[in-house]
This record gives sequence, structure tokens and C-alpha cells, in this order.
Amino acid sequence: MSIDTAHAPDWTIPQDWEGYTAADHATWTTLYERQAALLPGRACNEYLAGLRALDISRGIPDFRLLSDKLLALTGWQVVAVPGLVPEDIFFDHLANRRFPAGNFIRRPDQLDYLEEPDVFHDVFGHVPMLTDPVFADYMQAYGRGGLRAMQFGRLPNLARLYWYTVEFGLLRTDAGLRIYGAGIVSSGGESRFALDDPSPNRIGFSLRRVLRTPYRIDDFQQVYFVIESLPALLDETVNTDFAPLYEELANLPDIPIAAIEQTDHVYTHGTQHYAAAH
Ligand SMILES: [Fe+2]
Repeated sequence: MSIDTAHAPDWTIPQDWEGYTAADHATWTTLYERQAALLPGRACNEYLAGLRALDISRGIPDFRLLSDKLLALTGWQVVAVPGLVPEDIFFDHLANRRFPAGNFIRRPDQLDYLEEPDVFHDVFGHVPMLTDPVFADYMQAYGRGGLRAMQFGRLPNLARLYWYTVEFGLLRTDAGLRIYGAGIVSSGGESRFALDDPSPNRIGFSLRRVLRTPYRIDDFQQVYFVIESLPALLDETVNTDFAPLYEELANLPDIPIAAIEQTDHVYTHGTQHYAAAH
């Protein structure tokens, strides 16, 4: 499928579900089966319950059917886009409870390699968490916050919140750390690395701390932030006045990616061996 398909002003395009080949569906099912086998005991209960509720194990889901289920659960929909979309368009979709998902799927020889988020990352990774009412509200709040961050010129800071929660977040539970981030649950390698590897730091979530911490887009993360609960994440996000925070951040340096701060709640002081070797 071409990525320069004509799109509407909000960048949405028809998913063209009928256009997927048998090989496209087989790629989905291969990835699905691999991750579904890996995630029990690793992904959080909210994610696993969402995955079961969506029933998306057999081939690339039709967004129309997916949206029907999601609308009934939390009022969200999935809309097709040709790939990454401009930030303001992305935030506007989230603020209106629409999740933009790439409609293309990686090639069979790219199962572990992604240049740009495809339908497997976007749907398998993100949509199960959108069945959780609290996380559903958090994503909408993030969309609204994104539009405001653009006005303040602090989007690079806010983008770190998305990265370290929606994409690469870990959740503390009585049974141990669990994954809720889409970038982790959709990746076989990182599903293991994020929880088991001694290399990365794992640090208790703090909004200020996260907004000051850069991230890497090219490899496994060097630091993961652990939230206490999804309601705590939502509460802190919606009850924080970001305007003074952004002013404060303008005068503070970034925290080096692998640093441990005195005030950090440290779950793992990582060796950083993996990052040093790659
Ligand atoms: Fe993503």
C-alpha cells in the first residue's frame, strides 16, 4: 500500500481492509501469536483484558469492526492514516478520542524491524489499553495537553511524557513490574529486555523527571519509568498546571538519559551494558 495516498484534511484515509493480501494477514497473525504467547505475566492485566476483549488474533483487524467494539467500551475509535501525521493533527485526533493507526503492515522480512509504526504496532500495541476507561481518559488528556504544549513551545518536553508512558511505560503491581507501553508490547525483544535485562534503569515515575529526560528512538530504552497505577498517572496529568512547569523547565537542563538522580525511586540501577555495546 502506498504511503502517499491522498488524505483528508485530518489526514485520515480509508483503511482499505479489502486491499490487504493473504501475506499481509499472515504477517499480522505471526506477530500476534508470537506476542500473545510472550505477554501473559509480562503485560499488565488491563492490556491483556483489552486484547481479549478486542478479539484480533486472526489477521489484520477491520477498523470499522474494531471501532464498534472500542466505541461501546470507552468511546474511542481507530482511524486509518498513511503513517506518521503532523503533531497538531495527531493531538487533535487524540483529544477527540480517535486513535490514528497506520494502515500498512511491515514486510515478512521485517518482523523485528520497523522504520515507522505500522498497523501491528498501532493496533496491537496501542488499542488494547484504550479499552481501559482510565487509560482512555489519559490518552485524551494527552491530546489536549499536546495542543497546549505546542502553544507554549514545549512540545519536546511533553513528547517525553508520551514516550515514557504510552510507548514505554511500566506499571508496578503486587505481582511485580508489568508492561503497559505499546512500544514494548508490540516488540518481542523489548518485551523481554524491558523487564528482565539488567542493563536499563527502572525508575519510579515523576512527571517533572520524565519531562527532563531525553529518549532514544533507535534502540531499546536506557531508562524505563514505573507508574504506581493508571489512575495515579491520569490524576497527576490532569491535575497539573503545565504552564508554570514549562516555565520552570525552560531554565533547567535535561537529565542525561542514563543518570540516576538523588530523588529517584530506583527499582533497578541498570548496568547500561547493552547501551555501551550498541
Ligand atoms: Fe506508538
